[in-house]
Amino acid sequence: MIRRPIITICGHVDHGKTSLLDSLRGTTVAAKEAGGITQKISFTLFPAENILKGCYLLDKYNIAVKIPGFLFIDTPGHAAFTNLRKRGGSLADLAIVVMDINEGIMPQTAEVLQILKQNKTPFIVALNKIDNLSGWRKLDEDIKLSLEKQPSHIKNQFDEKLYTIIAALDRYGFNSDLFWNVEDYTKKICLVPLSAKTREGLPELLMMICGISQKFLSKQLSLGEKAKGVIFEIKKEKAFCHIQAIIYDGKLKQGDEIAIASFHKPIIAKVRVLEEACPLCDKFKPAKEATAATGLKLQLTNSEGILPGMPFQIFQDNLQEIEKEFKKDLSSIETQPEGIIIKADSLGSLEAFLVLLAQANIPVLRAGIGSINKQDITAAKTNLENNQENAVIAGFNTVLDPEIEKSDLGKVKLITDEVVYKLIEKLQEFQKSRRDEILKEKLLGLASICKLEILPGYVFRNSNPAIFGVKILGGKLKSGLPLIDNLGQEIARVKAIQSENKSVDEASEGMEAAISLPGTTFDRQLKSSKFLYVDINERQFKEFKKNKDLLSSREISILQEIAVIKKFF
Ligand code: GTP
Ligand code: MG
Repeated sequence: MIRRPIITICGHVDHGKTSLLDSLRGTTVAAKEAGGITQKISFTLFPAENILKGCYLLDKYNIAVKIPGFLFIDTPGHAAFTNLRKRGGSLADLAIVVMDINEGIMPQTAEVLQILKQNKTPFIVALNKIDNLSGWRKLDEDIKLSLEKQPSHIKNQFDEKLYTIIAALDRYGFNSDLFWNVEDYTKKICLVPLSAKTREGLPELLMMICGISQKFLSKQLSLGEKAKGVIFEIKKEKAFCHIQAIIYDGKLKQGDEIAIASFHKPIIAKVRVLEEACPLCDKFKPAKEATAATGLKLQLTNSEGILPGMPFQIFQDNLQEIEKEFKKDLSSIETQPEGIIIKADSLGSLEAFLVLLAQANIPVLRAGIGSINKQDITAAKTNLENNQENAVIAGFNTVLDPEIEKSDLGKVKLITDEVVYKLIEKLQEFQKSRRDEILKEKLLGLASICKLEILPGYVFRNSNPAIFGVKILGGKLKSGLPLIDNLGQEIARVKAIQSENKSVDEASEGMEAAISLPGTTFDRQLKSSKFLYVDINERQFKEFKKNKDLLSSREISILQEIAVIKKFF
């Protein structure tokens, strides 16, 4: 028996994923969405009879429909669709990458392509919104003929956009062409020009996904015995916990026991209420049993600790075997003895994030699913002591637990994003700036660059020690640092610094402070001086010069002044 193929519709925001699905199922979901944006993943059962109804070409080419329909998954374009994972690759058997033909490959399309490549998921590209080509009119039911019948300036416009997209796909390592030019579907990606608005090209798209599923995926579509699936979402409503899930293999019945993977022991629970997705809409109806692939809403006898993205399967007293399988499922969640702290919204997102972090050489100490909690912060705080660049929590598609105040983070850096590539870029930037800071601190620990202006009329004590007011013109003044005047004469080491009537260890650019210098007589040594500098030796000067990237432009110009005074050239 053949099961329904799972077909993911993915692509950049606003390129028309939901509209395409709407046109296929005869609904108007996209128009009703808040802000026209899909917020979360949803699934649609698409029965075989609708494939026949929507595709006159099947009759024409004498293609028999052998699959019991499709399970379509709509994904939000603004967030990654990385959580559609099962062990060994993608949950989707086939993907439709929706591209606005006028915009081509955009950031989210690029992300989707990389993930499809990583998971080896076959896909078709829907070149959507052809009706937006200026002057386009529907001139035939058949999209190929309609294109051929267009005036030449429209054909040229189409060709130009098409070749840009083909060239861009080539850069991602994909060979592609218009579907009617493709002979071997395993070697070339099919491009289907269409319009979700005017419905042109839709029969061709249906024919392609039906044909490719039946011809190339029949082995992977054979229905297994054991029910296996993935948890999508957990929603608490009053006393009940509703779990949305997909089964991608086997048959699940009400009353069955299932085992759900967790980072500890598998969670065993009985299916108390089983509801299956209704065909062609986003509602569910109670069912005694459901056959893969399909969308489910479940109520379980125990839902404590269930996490999104976790795999599950039917439990028939085979705990050991299941534990072994789940261990393999979760084997990609490996952490290192040192590294950053990461959180993601589901197991699939976490896995994808870990793969990309490994590629970017960023080790991970702690990885988890869900919102960022107290334990994550504690782990990051420990890093503050030994490795500051790892004192960061990165949240992929997740945020801080509402119970936690931002101030609880202290010096721990929190970075979140919905786009995994942006998140990694931000992380790299943060780590570089922390590394630079640490290096600078080390460098400045040995010495400091500083220029002071003596404030006339603020001599509080002439000698033993001399105490007078200064303004820090640049760099940092610390107690203990030796000072020179603008002729290079050694004056004294700073004994104490007072700012706003308080004793301080250091004072930085812009601050005014009173300093005390032992063994100095102001009248005799400093009366005619305007500025003071921190004394540095030639070795320190060279060290600063070598690392001038770490210095501010103000510090560099002070360093130059000191070098002139001390004749370091
Ligand atoms: P997200 O879910 O936010 O990622 O967007 P989406 O990819 O699902 O796009 P959606 O279907 O919401 O469509 C975005 C906009 O494009 C809407 O205003 C649609 O009406 C419009 N649109 C979609 N398909 C077509 C098409 O074939 N032609 C034209 N002219 N407009 C289209
Ligand atoms: Mg959408």
